[in-house]
Amino acid sequence: MKDDTLLIFDTTLRDGEQSPGASLNTPEKLEIARQLALLQVDVIEAGFPIASPGDFEAVQIIAREVEGPVVAGLARALPLDIDRAAKAVEPARRKRIHVFLATSEIHLKFKLKKAQKEIVKQAIEAVRYARQFCEDIEFSPEDASRTEPRFLVEVVQAAIDAGATTINIPDTVGYALPDAYGALIAQLKAEVPNIEKAVLSVHCHNDLGLAVANSLAGIRAGARQAECTINGIGERAGNAALEEIVMALRTRRDVYGIGSRIDTRRILATSRMVSKLTGLFVQRNKAIVGENAFAHEAGIHQDGILKERTTYEIMRPEDVGFSRTNLVLGKHSGRHAFRERIRDLGFDLPEDKLTAAFDAFKILADKKKEIFDEDLAALVEEQVSAESDIFRLVRFHTTSGIDVTPTATVRLRKESEEPREDAAVGDGPVDAVYRTIDRITGIPCRLLDYQIRAITKGKDAMGEVSLQVEHNALVVHGRASSTDILEASARAYLNAVNKIARRQRSAPPGAPPAARGV
Ligand code: KIV
Ligand code: ZN
Repeated sequence: MKDDTLLIFDTTLRDGEQSPGASLNTPEKLEIARQLALLQVDVIEAGFPIASPGDFEAVQIIAREVEGPVVAGLARALPLDIDRAAKAVEPARRKRIHVFLATSEIHLKFKLKKAQKEIVKQAIEAVRYARQFCEDIEFSPEDASRTEPRFLVEVVQAAIDAGATTINIPDTVGYALPDAYGALIAQLKAEVPNIEKAVLSVHCHNDLGLAVANSLAGIRAGARQAECTINGIGERAGNAALEEIVMALRTRRDVYGIGSRIDTRRILATSRMVSKLTGLFVQRNKAIVGENAFAHEAGIHQDGILKERTTYEIMRPEDVGFSRTNLVLGKHSGRHAFRERIRDLGFDLPEDKLTAAFDAFKILADKKKEIFDEDLAALVEEQVSAESDIFRLVRFHTTSGIDVTPTATVRLRKESEEPREDAAVGDGPVDAVYRTIDRITGIPCRLLDYQIRAITKGKDAMGEVSLQVEHNALVVHGRASSTDILEASARAYLNAVNKIARRQRSAPPGAPPAARGV
């Protein structure tokens, strides 16, 4: 590795997937992993194989099918965990086992109930054991930022001697401050005698809103790998956001003197895909990928931009995937223009999905005069997630108004079976649709959250519905968009029901309901 390149270790599919209610199924994980490969991340942490059969399967499939990045599997410092991780990453052309073990006083005393001496021994044994399976071993002393620095130096040295090739320094609970975290990395560089044999890595959580700042401080002090997630999703307040680290380094190369291999023009498409598949909205003012990230409202700013862009813009929107002209296509646009636009937006669709997306585009173009990038992105994302649907919406009809009982008739098709139709009344048309869907699918859900927003401007804008439902203690997200908000509501609900149906199908008989969502 050249010293001026930072390795990007993406953990969207592992730490990111630990966001409450954000779990993904295997096809969705594979879709994201493929997009991460296009984005050119260096390492994909694909999951925690011992955690569940689903996690194991996803890591294994990604290892088999995704070319380019190293594929990593997480393991506690235990032989059984390492066996599972080794087996899951085995098919990868380039593989890594990531072993972690807590080292802070608090974790040793209350969680592991072990002495420091035992921890050093366990770390050495685990790294040596993992080295039997592959040469690329990462070791993470969990809660490193709250670990006694003298002990951290000892553990890190021992892990490298045992064969670790990357040493990751997690700020597991987001407790660190930039100066102190940077100093810790500098101290490890200065005091661990064999540190040059390993790559030092940062892994910061965002509990105090400092994950990116801490990561940058660590990079400045000499770390050469950053662990991060798309949109900063992750446990609690999340992890450091990949797009923010990458663009900070690129924009302030004068300070950091280091870049990454990331194809930044694919950042926005990746962000949208992750948001869509996890059901986690990106806030409008989110740095780099939020809708307002490059919007200039103040007249003085707009005037300045028109005179000279750099007066108020430190990055070019097109460098992260926003298009220069937002008005793109209409009903007379052909397949070629459509394909080009989709590619410009950072998507890489195989021919069959492109055809399906183009058909959906033509239908949309009949309803909506101007089709914006946001409309296209929503349309493409729908094609991606619809692939493994068990229930599909064939048609629906609602009546509602003042002094009318809201009623819905819905027709659904379950895979290749004959379509089934039913009807129900509800408190409103959306409720009536949901009650009817419950009757047809036999999967009654409780609606926990329902949000609707317009994706673009204008009266004919597409409406996007994002919701959360619960069935038998399983909490899932659903999302869909349409120019008709009732249709978007129905499709979002079905999107969630399909996740439950798939989960039911893959769960072993008698398995308890998931504690977390999908
Ligand atoms: O935050 C953390 O400590 C982790 C480790 C497993 C690396 O995610
Ligand atoms: Zn973490």
